[in-house]
Amino acid sequence: MKLFIDTANIEHIRIASKWGCIKGVTTNPSLIAKEGRNLLDVIKEIVTLIDGPISAEVQEASVEAMVAEGQSLAKLHKNIVIKIPMTMDGIAAVSQLSKLGIKTNVTLVFSVPQALLACEAGATYISPFMGRVDDMGDSGVELIEKIMTTITNYGYETEVIAASIRNLAHVEQAALAGADIATIPFAVLQSMVNHPLTAAGLQIFRDAAKK
Ligand code: G3P
Repeated sequence: MKLFIDTANIEHIRIASKWGCIKGVTTNPSLIAKEGRNLLDVIKEIVTLIDGPISAEVQEASVEAMVAEGQSLAKLHKNIVIKIPMTMDGIAAVSQLSKLGIKTNVTLVFSVPQALLACEAGATYISPFMGRVDDMGDSGVELIEKIMTTITNYGYETEVIAASIRNLAHVEQAALAGADIATIPFAVLQSMVNHPLTAAGLQIFRDAAKK
């Protein structure tokens, strides 16, 4: 499973880029607003730090405006992926952008029927939100499993980005469900390296090395 970082924080992306295991970046309007910056400035910096798919979300809502904004964002850099919300206009925009050879990531996916629409429209990626499904009392991992089965059944090329990941359990569940990618907040990425037995074992080895 490829690991993406889910943030618009440049310092966090800079640190994570040095780990060598982060293959892409996803942003959304909330993450950009949290940094108090505008989308274009942030995206232009991110593409210099990670050489992989960088999702930039459209701000427009009509089909024509989303397609125009997507075309303009895609011109910024070859790695830009146009993130489009799951609406019927969004699906129409995905279909047009896909025919223009522009990569798309359909976001706010919460069901198999929604995933089907995006796959049939030619989405490069879809982003089911695990954490927000769990928040509702449903199962985020079941959603990922069902979408993976659907994609396998029909041989779609669309890749699944497990999103709205809040903790290590989500990372593990996404991997076991076969998600192609998990997009993970910085703090959760940092915590992936930790295990109490690793820390204890390291201490024992370091003490032994001193003797
Ligand atoms: O990738 C989508 C993600 O940023 C949403 O996460 O925690 O706001 O549900 P969350």
